[in-house]
Amino acid sequence: MIDFCGIELAHPVINGSGTFDAIAARRVFGEQLVERFPFSAFVSKTITLSPRPGNPAPRLWEAPAGLINSIGLPNKGLSGYLAEDLPQLAQLPVPLITNVMGSTAQEFCELVAACERRPEIAAIELNVSCPNVKTGLDIGSDPRQLEAVTQAVRGQTGKPLIIKLTPNTADVAACAAAAERGGADAVSLINTLRAMALAPGSDRPWLGGRTGGLSGPAIRAVALAQVAAVRGAVALPIIGMGGVQSPAHARDLLRAGADLVAVGTESFRDPAAAARIAAEIY
Ligand SMILES: Cc1cc2nc3c(=O)[nH]c(=O)nc-3n(C[C@H](O)[C@H](O)[C@H](O)COP(=O)(O)O)c2cc1C
Repeated sequence: MIDFCGIELAHPVINGSGTFDAIAARRVFGEQLVERFPFSAFVSKTITLSPRPGNPAPRLWEAPAGLINSIGLPNKGLSGYLAEDLPQLAQLPVPLITNVMGSTAQEFCELVAACERRPEIAAIELNVSCPNVKTGLDIGSDPRQLEAVTQAVRGQTGKPLIIKLTPNTADVAACAAAAERGGADAVSLINTLRAMALAPGSDRPWLGGRTGGLSGPAIRAVALAQVAAVRGAVALPIIGMGGVQSPAHARDLLRAGADLVAVGTESFRDPAAAARIAAEIY
């Protein structure tokens, strides 16, 4: 058993937000999924206050050794999540981490206060890869904004608070230190790297959202460097992710300073990847 911010986990492998739909997987794989759940905790996809339709198609581009997605965080909004998804996610055999995103500190506070009231939620992850509606800067790329948002949200919850750092910043270690000063209990990284693809033979972006986020093996070395940099800057527990496909990749992140590892893009290729990795991680 592993203790992560006071939550007991059977092993150190969880999922990256938005890369495993446990509700759909249960429909497809039935009770087998619950009996042999691949992750030791389940992270929901990002929830926002209001429902979002997501970005126009096309939403995916296959890059060499990776994937660029511009899914655009489609979700049912906070009330839809609490009423429809949470009761189903609460039936999973592992602790639930709910991932939320706001575009102001106030929005983050509303989301977190609602999660605080639900005992089914074990911990809360903030996706801070979102532009502040006033400054236009990604909240998570600016240490001052990130500290202020973390501090505001901290006042709303006693549950473990994880800040999912953005890699699209000049100094990820400074952002991690800002999250720590603001009162975070843990940090997770890396989210996707901003990327673009042109429609073949044209000067137009391929993706409906123009740019997207690069994930998969292509970002593994970046993840390793950023996890090591963050380990050097904070004492907080770290969830490391980015391109993990094998036990050796997961071990590298642990050696670089992560406490848990998350599997993302690899679960699309092999939904049982995390179980395979967890079985041979040590
Ligand atoms: C299709 C897709 C959807 C994602 N959705 C979310 C999301 O809703 N919230 C979030 O914080 N991260 C999201 N991510 C980022 C992943 O959780 C993870 O940080 C990133 O993909 C790096 O890990 P990987 O290389 O193992 O995929 C998404 C990634 C992909 C590929």
